[in-house]
Amino acid sequence: MVTRLVLFVLPCVLLFEKAYTATNRTFPSYFKFGVATASYQVEGAWNEDGKGENIWDHVCHTNSTFIDNKDNGDVACDSYHKYKEDVQMIKNLGVDYYRFSLSWSRILPRGLAGTPVNQLGINYYRNLTQELLDNGIEPMVTMFHWDLPEPLQDIGGWPNPELEDHFVYYARTVFEQLGDLVKFWMTFNEPKQTCQEGYGLGVMAPGIKSSGIADYKCAHTLIKAHAKTYHLYDDEFRAKQNGSIGIVADTTWYEPASGSDADKAAAERALQFKFGWFLNPIVNGNYPQVMIDRVDERSKKQGFAQSRLPKFTDEEIEYIKGTHDFVAVNTYTTNYAQDVEEPDSDELSYESDMKVELFLDDDWEESASSWLRVVPWGIRKLVNWVSKTYNNPEIFITENGVSDRGGIEDENRTSFYREYLSNILEAIEEDGVNVTRYTAWSLMDNFEWARGYAEKYGLYSVDFKSSNRTRTPKASADYYKQVITTRCLVNSC
Ligand code: NOJ
Repeated sequence: MVTRLVLFVLPCVLLFEKAYTATNRTFPSYFKFGVATASYQVEGAWNEDGKGENIWDHVCHTNSTFIDNKDNGDVACDSYHKYKEDVQMIKNLGVDYYRFSLSWSRILPRGLAGTPVNQLGINYYRNLTQELLDNGIEPMVTMFHWDLPEPLQDIGGWPNPELEDHFVYYARTVFEQLGDLVKFWMTFNEPKQTCQEGYGLGVMAPGIKSSGIADYKCAHTLIKAHAKTYHLYDDEFRAKQNGSIGIVADTTWYEPASGSDADKAAAERALQFKFGWFLNPIVNGNYPQVMIDRVDERSKKQGFAQSRLPKFTDEEIEYIKGTHDFVAVNTYTTNYAQDVEEPDSDELSYESDMKVELFLDDDWEESASSWLRVVPWGIRKLVNWVSKTYNNPEIFITENGVSDRGGIEDENRTSFYREYLSNILEAIEEDGVNVTRYTAWSLMDNFEWARGYAEKYGLYSVDFKSSNRTRTPKASADYYKQVITTRCLVNSC
């Protein structure tokens, strides 16, 4: 009886230990820690000092059913006025860098190429950047984190190929105006979300439902705009400004739902459709072959004269290939991936092109976001996959974090960071993956897009009821600070 009990209990204890004990190794000296936000989610001041309207202003003001509680980013965390306090909060964490984004409409209120620059908008970003530098914090800047100027949406938004040149004009403006201070550039944040949620499923601004058509066109424009911006930096700015530039792509880790070959292929297909969609062109020049083949074939069956997946010319492939100085990944969760039967040809969508069913495991710990479950081992598998698939690049984790419904004693978030960071450290030390940066999302609770202010991701809480938007550090902020100081995840290393 005792033996049977031991035989039963011991593996459970070991399993528990395996799943919940963080490594006591220390982070290598070159490894850097950061924290992130994005313009629309924190800045507020939506129409101040000459800023123009963007698609999130527009959606929040005109289509309130789109956003939970009719929330909007008009004031958000008021970082436009409180940036000095933000910088002190960032400094208090002890992080090496701050990842934030620029509001295109604050810099070019009309959005379009050739329209006037708003000097007050530039001043805001120069002041913020200088304040960071004066406090020993490296600025890491995203040029586009979803807040497209409304006048560019009025001409069709990202599915319109003309946006490539409008973006490059904006990029040139920011290199000219901020490039002396900024050494880390990211062109786009999570282009998959911009294209899939914004122009495919229509659940994010601008809310267009054209899955399998506009989402692919959107991605095509974005990728070309990214490549042209990379070359612009290389040709005209890199020599004097001496910075690095890349794109931030996001993906969930897709775990095969069974050991069958079909499910393993489905998981790989999901990774290629979600992450390879952007990374494969940028690293190798073109979309993943599985994506080209499937969309071409289904388009043909559906009677399209041309594939719904746009084609890059041979010159474009050469031009786009290798336009990255690092691979930046945002990742939060894991899904199971299961193969499904070939959908009928009258089903026209990105999902039927992909032909994978994705689902969550009920045993995985929940968060406040329906799509996010806590699965620490997923991040280790993901960085291994990125490393193997893209020839061992330098990898930055540019976002990772978890949501809850609020409160300062956020043990859930502390253990999330401990376990996810432990898996990253194991990937570095045991698997030889070249991850060099980790960025916590987010510095503070903020406007969580269509979910408004109810889902909270911050290391600092923000009192959205007070006009002062009072910030208070949570327990997780203390933990993150301790990790950065000691470079150790547990009590002692
Ligand atoms: C990804 C996005 O980049 C960020 O804006 C968002 O708040 C977080 N994920 C959490 O959903």
